[in-house]
Amino acid sequence: MFDPAKIRRDFPILSQKSGTRDLVYLDNAATAQKPQVVIDAIARFYRCENANIHRGLYHLSAEATTAFEKARERVAAFINAPEPDACVFTRGATEGINLVASSWGRSRLRPGDEILLTELEHHADIVPWQLVAEETGAIVRVAKLDPKTGTLDLEHWRSQLSDKTKIACFCHISNALGTVNPIGEMVRLAHAAGALTLVDAAQSAPHLPIDVQALACDFLVFSGHKTFAPTGIGILYGRKDLLDAMPPYQAGGDMIDRVSFSGTTFREAPARFEAGTPNICGAVGLGVALEYFKAFQKDAADYEHRLTQYAVEKLSEIEGMRFFGPVRTAGTAGILSFHLGKIHPSDIATMLDTYGICTRVGHHCAMPLMAALGITGTVRASLAFYNTYAEIDTLADALIRIKKMF
Ligand SMILES: Cc1ncc(COP(=O)(O)O)c(C=O)c1O
Repeated sequence: MFDPAKIRRDFPILSQKSGTRDLVYLDNAATAQKPQVVIDAIARFYRCENANIHRGLYHLSAEATTAFEKARERVAAFINAPEPDACVFTRGATEGINLVASSWGRSRLRPGDEILLTELEHHADIVPWQLVAEETGAIVRVAKLDPKTGTLDLEHWRSQLSDKTKIACFCHISNALGTVNPIGEMVRLAHAAGALTLVDAAQSAPHLPIDVQALACDFLVFSGHKTFAPTGIGILYGRKDLLDAMPPYQAGGDMIDRVSFSGTTFREAPARFEAGTPNICGAVGLGVALEYFKAFQKDAADYEHRLTQYAVEKLSEIEGMRFFGPVRTAGTAGILSFHLGKIHPSDIATMLDTYGICTRVGHHCAMPLMAALGITGTVRASLAFYNTYAEIDTLADALIRIKKMF
């Protein structure tokens, strides 16, 4: 039986106060908190294992290399990658998308080729493609959202696919609305049209099991810091044949095969895309975080689902509550994006902070999505498995007081 009270004790920051109030951390879509095992792993790495990797012939360097590559194995197991070498360490989801856009996009896209995005995307899955489209003459197409339901208009998305589409890039879960896209079907349809697929799993990796082999996507990215690991580390999964055929993204040490002034040859993936000294400790922390989370991932997802439903019911009782996204229909993955009467979202979030409640406010790095909804921003409360029913009650009580005050 999943016990959030027990799990909470694994996260030291959650027992902290915010002023005189208990800290209520509801900004998990921005970044998640770190369990003690991850904090310990980081401290242990620097205390006992720190050395540069892949090049030292001494024992300590071999140990650091083993820890780094073991982390890659853990990542591969977490997303069921066919081999660890299909997993490239990056700084995060943003860098993973930039890597594919720069390396694959610049070398493969020709004038008139099309890149298919959706209105639900985070800026990290829009701007890199705009830059590469400008450079190559490719065209960015955008599939529409149904603003009434906050879900992707799948028919429109399908109508945008053609033999000109070279890659379709879409989020698994919208960070602004929590909408869960039917990514299995989207991968299948994109492939049928002859396009590659890139799944932005930044918001799903901490909530839903991911199986890249079952999904058969070509690329998938996520960020460590949203999956209970340190900042500055993330993953690009890519089909190994695609990765090995792509030109390097950055150049430097460790990614080369032979260097001379008459020319340089490069190693295969993942080394080809990991130029210079990587975030070794971050990778180790990510491996530990995923191992920790994997042990109860399914139960956590069920619990989060129940908690989200409870939150929707509880907040719906407040007069003037207006949700964005499919909270009452398809359900959202732990994300509640809302307005309360005519109170400005920034005022709500600032007031919530006085109750110790951390939320996010604004466009959530999804300006085109906000434009499609005809708004400039929302208040976003985003849940994780360590949040509790009592915290939802605290949020609801605070919102009622704020409503009265305005
Ligand atoms: C859906 C989505 N994609 C990409 C990103 C970018 O992640 P990062 O800033 O960790 O690179 C985020 C961050 O919020 C996100 O929610």
